[in-house]
Amino acid sequence: MARGTILAVDDEKNLLELIQMGLEFAGYDVITAMNATEALTHAKEEAIDLAVVDLQLGDTDGITLMESLHLVSPEMPVIILTGYGSISNAVEAMKRGAYSYFTKPFDSEVLLFEIGKIMETRRMSSEIERLQGLLESKYSFSNIVARSKKMQDVLETISRIAKTDSTVLLLGESGTGKDLIAKAIHLASDRKERPFVAINCAALPEALLESNLFGHEKGAFSGAIRETKGLFLQAHGGTIFLDEIGDMPLAIQAKILRVIQERQIRPVGSEKVINVDVRIITATNKNLEEQVRLELFREDLYYRIHVIPIHLPALRERKEDIPPLVDFFVQKAASLMKKDIKGVTPQAMQKLMLYEWPGNIRELENVIEYAAAMTDREYITDDLVLQTKGVVSQEPVQPLKQAKDAFEKSYLIYLLETCKGNISEAAKYAGKYRADLYDLLKKHKLSPDDFKKRGLA
Ligand SMILES: Nc1ncnc2c1ncn2[C@@H]1O[C@H](COP(=O)(O)OP(=O)(O)O)[C@@H](O)[C@H]1O
Ligand SMILES: [Mg+2]
Repeated sequence: MARGTILAVDDEKNLLELIQMGLEFAGYDVITAMNATEALTHAKEEAIDLAVVDLQLGDTDGITLMESLHLVSPEMPVIILTGYGSISNAVEAMKRGAYSYFTKPFDSEVLLFEIGKIMETRRMSSEIERLQGLLESKYSFSNIVARSKKMQDVLETISRIAKTDSTVLLLGESGTGKDLIAKAIHLASDRKERPFVAINCAALPEALLESNLFGHEKGAFSGAIRETKGLFLQAHGGTIFLDEIGDMPLAIQAKILRVIQERQIRPVGSEKVINVDVRIITATNKNLEEQVRLELFREDLYYRIHVIPIHLPALRERKEDIPPLVDFFVQKAASLMKKDIKGVTPQAMQKLMLYEWPGNIRELENVIEYAAAMTDREYITDDLVLQTKGVVSQEPVQPLKQAKDAFEKSYLIYLLETCKGNISEAAKYAGKYRADLYDLLKKHKLSPDDFKKRGLA
């Protein structure tokens, strides 16, 4: 890969070729121009990292060209080449924004060295910006526990798409965190200072849902005594979250399609259309393809909202997240209830690890909240968790091999959690050789390192 793209501008053909050769030899992509017009065209059409510009050009002077270049890309470093003895011009160039200047004839080694330095500084500062962006987004995800690879991937995706305006579809069983992720996407976007408006499309009858979404005119229907502003308008500039979109009546689906395509709404009983600027996030726990097949969901709308699908895995598919989630909810409950609770006992954790969690994280949160309310000890004991529920799988009976594997994985996670990722200790508890334990971990794609740190910083 090239080290960067450099625009070289000189009206002396020979010198221009010389500069080009030197730069290409050093690994840069070079675009050449013999006059200001050509140079500006390139600057507008290509991504250029740096420009080397001769002071004397046929159609204009290098300083004027530099200023025009800076109008196109203000950050672009420009090096000015001046003829021998025109020091005052060089000073003038620096004053007007040149990065540095070279007096002809110059040593091309020195020029290359200078360019290398500039490129490196630029690379570093864009790297720092990138890292700061990552930190910021991590920070806004601080209330999301994500130790498992699957959830790390979800966070990675949402930090990447948050700043776009693309429609998002969150898929996952009830309680897997769809609401939480929708909010996180909004908070990580440039719309975060603007409203986040959520509506559950399954909760309202059709007519009410429609007037809630789009607003209505006074007298649009009996009971409409005032004109109201719909949720789309309330969300203007921000994000609207259409939860349970799989349960939306077909007639309203057609209207949502229109909003997505035209970015316009029409209040109930009104002739006028209103432009709205909203980011749309949708969610469902239904299988939308199935709904499309059953003609309960419009196929065209399905494709419109399926732009960025994000699947939130069920908790039973990412049991590594259970221990940090337990910690998270214990701390939350303890501070809310002003109780001194430090965690759960190993027996209680084992019980939590073996359960299948049909209600996902919401169920886990409730179980911990209940236990925290009931306990009078520092560590929640196993008799307080999942009392009424069997810890056995609620799935239909599994083949023995599958059940064994599932148990093995849960056991290993629990073991690593207890030993905080210390393999020697874990091997001792398990009565296994270290090498055998490593093999088992590899089989289940678990890494001891993940258990050395606590959750996501
Ligand atoms: N990764 C997570 N980290 C911490 N809390 C979570 C996480 N996922 C979900 N929760 C919590 O679990 C509960 C259920 O999540 P929610 O977003 O309402 O699920 P859904 O909308 O999919 O039914 C909420 O209290 C939420 O804050
Ligand atoms: Mg929800």
